[in-house]
Amino acid sequence: MNDVNIYKDIGSLLASSKNTVVVTGAGISTEAGIPDFRGEKGIYRTLGEDKVMNLINVDAFRRRTEEFYKFYRNYFMLPKVKPSRAHYLLAEMEKKGIIKAIVTQNIDNLHQKAGSKRVIAVHGNADNFICTKIGCPTMVDGDYVRSVSDLVPKCPQCGSILKPDVVLFGEPIQNHRLARDTILNAQLLVVIGSSLTVYPLAGFVGEYCASSEKFIIINKGPTALDHKATVKLDTDNTGKALEEILKYIE
Ligand code: APR
Ligand code: ZN
Repeated sequence: MNDVNIYKDIGSLLASSKNTVVVTGAGISTEAGIPDFRGEKGIYRTLGEDKVMNLINVDAFRRRTEEFYKFYRNYFMLPKVKPSRAHYLLAEMEKKGIIKAIVTQNIDNLHQKAGSKRVIAVHGNADNFICTKIGCPTMVDGDYVRSVSDLVPKCPQCGSILKPDVVLFGEPIQNHRLARDTILNAQLLVVIGSSLTVYPLAGFVGEYCASSEKFIIINKGPTALDHKATVKLDTDNTGKALEEILKYIE
């Protein structure tokens, strides 16, 4: 099926849905300049998935904190990038009532920066750092952490170690219940830029597919749930794809 027909099909599914939820992954932020994990140039490809999983986990944070921060500062202190065209279009689609919410695995805060209001982030926000001392409410941003000379940043209030406000491997995701309910209650689910390989989010999408036939995937290359898609658009430019799709809704 050629792209125009796919744009048309996706456009009509979006136009006839009263409750469309979008699930995004790292693939939507590559167009903003942030590498993804498992794509062709993903950091798992370049650095090795084991190495990353071995370091970006809560055990390494606790027991090998210096090693953790050395790696984190190199690869997870995201460059100051602007949202991509796709982020802005999704914010516009929310304003027009075309989509109801975004559940994102991304930690780059780009949906919020692009103006999306209903964003449910399940893996946290890389630009926030929270104090590890129970009861200390301090939270600082990446600029503060970049400004201190210590490799392992300390809380400016109580001196305890600061932790990035991201979900490390071995930790429960954030907004678990809200993310699952939002996905399962959707009338139409659209996945953009995710390999759908990381749980529990991939599990929520699988659960949705078990009881719905309206499932769209917009992704470059295969995902773990392609066989469940009503429409699959294989693209490496989600901004252009959304622009084309919108022509069939307005
Ligand atoms: N347009 C469309 N798809 C793209 C683009 C693009 N411009 N760039 C990359 N992709 C696709 C890749 O081909 C890949 O299939 O996006 C997908 C991104 O998949 P992953 O890198 O696995 O990212 P994601 O699914 O978000 O990973 C989930 O894994 O490591 C953890 O916590 C991390 O949140 C992350 C989670
Ligand atoms: Zn503190």
